[in-house]
Amino acid sequence: MVAAVRGVTIAGIGGCVPPAVVTNDDLAQVVETDDEWIRTRTGIRQRRVADPGTATSDLAEVAARRALEEAGVRPDQVDLIIVATVTPDMPFPSTACLLQDRLGATRAAGFDLEAACSGFVYALAAGAQFIAAGLYDTVLVVGAETLSKIIDWSDRRTCVLLGDGAGAAVLRPAAPGEGILGLYLGADGSGGDLLKQPAGGSRLPASPETVARGLHFVQMNGREVFKFAVKTMGDAAQAALAQAGLTFDDVDLYVPHQANFRIIESSARRFDLPLERVVVNIDRYGNTSAASIPVALDEALSTGRIRAGQTVLLVAFGGGLTWGAAVVRWGYDRPAPRPLEMPGQEPRYGLPEWIREQAARGRARAGEPAQGEPAAAASEATAPAALAVPRAALDPAAVTAASPGSEGRPAWGGGGTR
Ligand code: ACO
Repeated sequence: MVAAVRGVTIAGIGGCVPPAVVTNDDLAQVVETDDEWIRTRTGIRQRRVADPGTATSDLAEVAARRALEEAGVRPDQVDLIIVATVTPDMPFPSTACLLQDRLGATRAAGFDLEAACSGFVYALAAGAQFIAAGLYDTVLVVGAETLSKIIDWSDRRTCVLLGDGAGAAVLRPAAPGEGILGLYLGADGSGGDLLKQPAGGSRLPASPETVARGLHFVQMNGREVFKFAVKTMGDAAQAALAQAGLTFDDVDLYVPHQANFRIIESSARRFDLPLERVVVNIDRYGNTSAASIPVALDEALSTGRIRAGQTVLLVAFGGGLTWGAAVVRWGYDRPAPRPLEMPGQEPRYGLPEWIREQAARGRARAGEPAQGEPAAAASEATAPAALAVPRAALDPAAVTAASPGSEGRPAWGGGGTR
């Protein structure tokens, strides 16, 4: 990475989560799981889920406005918008361009960046380069996801883990002694199959068959991702700290990607950091991918855990496979807590009906019984027998083997959260 020629700081943070709260007990109504399994294996108690009419840009806009306000920057002063997401409103135009229009950021350029759960750290690193090089003065970096739209709510291996949210940061030239001190990014595409959304791109464009087989949903080999995470978080943190000329002893607050409490805990143990110096909010939001670190930063600012002068370590890992870390000497305090809720919305409890319906379709697709029904009756009632796919066929390896490639499939068929 090119060494910074001009210091870059985080001048404002904003966050936003949708109002619908889905608890572990709610999920036990649609998949064979229970609160105890989810809590002890992941640390998650509940997650937020966007309403059917809410797309990624809706959450991103709220988070972005809050970050701009905190930084004291008007939208028309922004030079560049980078949105990190795996759930754009649509394949194109980019969510960054949609956001640019909605914010009235009339002079800003914009693009989306895709590095899955490492997306925010990647976007932070990318945005910082433009300021370091002197090309721009103000960059808005957003990590925003509506993962609920690409989850198979009948797949207990993934649906219990993920949630929706958005976080944003305003990057500006740094005052002496503050700002981004170290950055590190890594990738290993050979592990791409461990975590993916197989269909909807040029390899497997959307078709009745891909929809019938549930190939537009997230697939994950959890055990392998777990091992990868524990290793790469340490490597990334050490590399970013080394670049900053610091050690773990200098870290006041560690803000890890919120994927699994056991992963967070084991990395903190490896870094010799007590949990008092670790930000954990996975219990309330689950894994919100690119939004996870900026939402955690937002809460840490609101609760006074981040203050001016502190050294903050951000570490992420995710699909790709990707990983990254940043060391930031924080430049400001937040005088009073700010909300994460959408404007005018209060948390709303209960399993949304659309999730119940989507889970029923998933069970039918896999030829599994609905709660309390025999298998045959369930699949006959809700899907043609020819479309029922055993869940084993949806394993990553089986999907790779089944991928026909782009030849003979001319139609582009994307997805999107809008
Ligand atoms: N409820 C009950 N049982 C379950 C559930 C569930 N929700 N999910 C899986 N199980 C079962 C499995 O079927 C398995 O049963 P079996 O032994 O009869 O086959 C058993 O529990 C153990 O499964 P494992 O996968 O070995 O469980 P593990 O302890 O590894 O925990 C988990 C699984 C939580 C997914 C863990 O591996 C993990 O957190 N991995 C990392 C995930 C991650 O960080 N993903 C990152 C990003 S996601 C994204 O980028 C979009």
